Amino acid sequence: MVKVNQNYLKLPGSYLFSEVARRISAYSAAHPEAKIIKLSIGDVTRPLAPAVIQAMHAAVEEMGTFEGFHGYGPEQGYPFLREAIAQFDYAARGVDILPEEIFVSDGAKSDCGNIGDIFGADNVVAVCDPVYPVYVDTNAMAGRAGDFQESLGRWSRLVYMPCVESNGFSPEIPKEQPDLIYLCFPNNPTGAMATREQLEAWVDYANATGAVILYDSAYEAFITQEDIPHTIFEIEGARTCAIEFRSFSKTAGFTGNRCAYTVVPRELERDGARLNSLWNRRQTTKFNGVPYVVQRGAAAIYTPEGRAQIMESIAYYQNNAQVIRAGLSAVGLECFGGVNAPYIWLKTPKGMGSWDFFDLLLDRANVAATPGAGFGPSGEGYLRLTAFGGAEATREAVERIKAVL
Ligand code: MLT
Repeated sequence: MVKVNQNYLKLPGSYLFSEVARRISAYSAAHPEAKIIKLSIGDVTRPLAPAVIQAMHAAVEEMGTFEGFHGYGPEQGYPFLREAIAQFDYAARGVDILPEEIFVSDGAKSDCGNIGDIFGADNVVAVCDPVYPVYVDTNAMAGRAGDFQESLGRWSRLVYMPCVESNGFSPEIPKEQPDLIYLCFPNNPTGAMATREQLEAWVDYANATGAVILYDSAYEAFITQEDIPHTIFEIEGARTCAIEFRSFSKTAGFTGNRCAYTVVPRELERDGARLNSLWNRRQTTKFNGVPYVVQRGAAAIYTPEGRAQIMESIAYYQNNAQVIRAGLSAVGLECFGGVNAPYIWLKTPKGMGSWDFFDLLLDRANVAATPGAGFGPSGEGYLRLTAFGGAEATREAVERIKAVL
């Protein structure tokens, strides 16, 4: 008789964004007249940049010729894209990353989940609280999280690092000595950013203890403040303790195109093994690469015109973030984030529960958000709004929320 992975049976309910989508659909079905504005899942709404489209069209044409046809590509990504990433995302910031250290993939979500394959099941894992649920759920699936404690809303073996107002939503080094440390900056869901000094402290800690930092930088393009590191590899010593995840999803509107990358430095060794070799082994065995056409589209964002076009979309979303922050702050709501990130982390009024406030806004304002409690126990009493909507819809959503309050 087949045995299933018992760890899956321990997972509570459904994945957060599926649950939010289910509730929105149920509400829509019951209220077909409601014009719901979705500021819930962080999905982009602006079309692909013309330079990307042009490059993809050209690649499609190539694929229709004998000379230009591409079958299986390199699992790690085509050299033209890995070289462009190394040059424009790293060298341009004074950071040396070799193309061989860059692994192109179909998404930062996949990579953040899959990276667990190269680590043993008995590692102690630390996550921020609130946290992007993928880190938690994938470790639970791998048996690293222990048991889910329903009453506490947390897993018994995970180390939770509270990110709350009093620490500026930036985690403090925990007293338990974790082996794997997930950090996400700019942060999803709080929109907070770590300072250079804070990242230096993490890197020093990881090098001293032998931990590995799994640094999710999917929202890097939204950093506006000066002197904030755009990559963990700007920090001295990071090459011996960190893996970085980046994505074209939010940077270039690729959520439907699927392209991202993970950087595993050559020097990073643990337990006598090079993590770059292990990740290469994992990817070459389980992954066949991102489509050629998509990688050509991704490479187009590194041309001058592509760069200008994606920056225009990013500015558009950044403006939405300001509209949300300014509008809701004006009616007395406490808003965090939204300056270096496309997420606004809102304190619920009068100590209302996250899901209650979610229901209230859905019902009375027809605005869908993501309840903070869905991201972890410390998210209770908060709500996340995304800046990825249309400008008009975003303004309308803010007006509707103000009217309800
Ligand atoms: C989010 O809403 O947190 C993200 O869009 C989810 C994701 O990128 O997978």
